[in-house]
Amino acid sequence: MKIGILGTGGVGRTLAAKLNADEHEVMIGTRNIADTMAKSKPDGMGNPPFKEWQEQNSKVKLGTFADAAKFGETIILATYGDVTTNAIDLAGNENFSGKLVVNTTNPLDFSKGVITQNEKIGISTPVFVREIAKRVDRVRKSRTRDLHGGNRETRIARHRPTNHLQAM
Ligand SMILES: NC(=O)c1ccc[n+]([C@@H]2O[C@H](COP(=O)([O-])OP(=O)(O)OC[C@H]3O[C@@H](n4cnc5c(N)ncnc54)[C@H](OP(=O)(O)O)[C@@H]3O)[C@@H](O)[C@H]2O)c1
Repeated sequence: MKIGILGTGGVGRTLAAKLNADEHEVMIGTRNIADTMAKSKPDGMGNPPFKEWQEQNSKVKLGTFADAAKFGETIILATYGDVTTNAIDLAGNENFSGKLVVNTTNPLDFSKGVITQNEKIGISTPVFVREIAKRVDRVRKSRTRDLHGGNRETRIARHRPTNHLQAM
């Protein structure tokens, strides 16, 4: 299956690598390809620059958010909490139509690294989810997979999806 992932952070990369190993075709989306490939320092979570990661995962394509959304038969949302709606807007609402959308995002602030408590971004989870759902309202089905508290690579394969869009 063709899968588009919006988000170049640790979650997007982890899912991309696993799905690619499972023989799915994967494209990760970013705001600006040149900027992302030019990064030379680890991100705030200590992940290596994207270019280094892609050298180890050369079958995973990199495109803009719109490229990845167009590419994917399934689209995974994996962007920083409060910018998720912006990423969807940049990807183009029309590119979600009729597709399965998997939401991994949370309205949490990881900007200081590891969170010590649930530092919300100013809106509640239901409001956050409604904002996302409004923008992808023509999807066939919206689902969330809980990747918390375990090995992301195995849990993506095992966790039962819910039948509606909800943050974890
Ligand atoms: N469901 C779960 O169990 C679970 C577990 C862990 C994390 N999460 C959630 O997964 C999501 C991804 O986490 P992460 O650490 O991998 O990534 P992240 O560092 O939170 O987000 C990185 C992505 O956000 C994009 N971004 C940053 N500012 C933006 C803006 N103004 N407009 C549009 N996009 C912007 C970046 O774009 P560029 O590529 O252009 O830089 C990048 O693709 C988060 O919401 C996190 O809370 C969920």
